[in-house]
Amino acid sequence: MIKIGNKEIPSNIIMAPMSGCTDLAFRTTVRKYGASVCFFEMVDATSLIMKSTKTFRMLKTTSKDRPIAAQLIGSNPIQMLDAAHILLDTVSEIMFLDINSACPVRKVLKKKSGAYLMKSPDTLIKIAETLSNKLKLPVTVKIRTGYDKNDLSDLTDLARRLEDTGISAIFIHGRTCKQMYSGEIDYTSIREVKSAVSIPVFGSGNIFSPELAKKMFDETGCDGITVARGALGTPWIFKDIESYLKTGKFIKPKNITDKKRIALTEHIKYIKKYRERSSEGNVGFMKKIVMWYTKGFPDASSIRNKICKIKNYGQLSDFIKSI
Ligand SMILES: Cc1cc2nc3c(=O)[nH]c(=O)nc-3n(C[C@H](O)[C@H](O)[C@H](O)COP(=O)(O)O)c2cc1C
Repeated sequence: MIKIGNKEIPSNIIMAPMSGCTDLAFRTTVRKYGASVCFFEMVDATSLIMKSTKTFRMLKTTSKDRPIAAQLIGSNPIQMLDAAHILLDTVSEIMFLDINSACPVRKVLKKKSGAYLMKSPDTLIKIAETLSNKLKLPVTVKIRTGYDKNDLSDLTDLARRLEDTGISAIFIHGRTCKQMYSGEIDYTSIREVKSAVSIPVFGSGNIFSPELAKKMFDETGCDGITVARGALGTPWIFKDIESYLKTGKFIKPKNITDKKRIALTEHIKYIKKYRERSSEGNVGFMKKIVMWYTKGFPDASSIRNKICKIKNYGQLSDFIKSI
């Protein structure tokens, strides 16, 4: 249990936002295997204001898909506020709203949003101030350790300025924008941010196993963590981490039969149930998900080559059963 602003969050181990991954089918699966708090995929402020159907589809949820947090990306404080109102009118019971200052994707940086805000701190502060002053729910900010280099003094200064805006927590991915998603995790920067502020700080980066989750807590003193790629094809990682942190013991690993069952009769089934059908019936998306589950299978690369050639759901389902 951890408090973010006035909201009691049942766990300090949160499913991170992941664009193109953490849809309702994904969240339903990870919740079944121990994730209690999830994020929607990030939504773009301008697209919400323009009433983009695709963006609204990303906010599809159910009453069981709770507790849930949302994340907005944008660069203009007034637009971000307008978008936040639309979002909150569309979805009820959002626990807290995060501002994305961490996305390193080129098309996002071109629009001066996401991690671009790391080099435009005054804009980020203005957005954080506007949202936390005008909205009733807790507002949080996700940052990186820097834009192209780590500067502890700039980073801790930014963290303190963010805290002064009234935000309720900081999420920090322990890499610079330039590092994208690879390279070492900078635990020192996360630890310095934690020491600089008194609001909760959540560490992100390389949470691929219970030991790496413990390492994030031990090295940084952070209040919580977010699990991202570590949950792709391994939704049970949440139970694994919680058990290891509590008892120091590992849960018996899932075998191939378990993984096939979870992929086919749960995750893929939820995609069929919840995802609007594209012209190809979502098989391309399903193939991506099945590939996650084949991580660690003997002969995984030949399995993946075969998956690439699959044309429809029937073939995919038969293939999974045949593995
Ligand atoms: C495919 C993908 C999509 C992501 N989308 C988002 C996003 O929408 N918002 C966000 O704050 N972080 C996003 N992230 C970053 C993750 O939340 C996380 O901070 C990052 O992957 C580091 O954690 P990891 O090393 O444990 O994966 C994304 C990461 C990946 C791999």
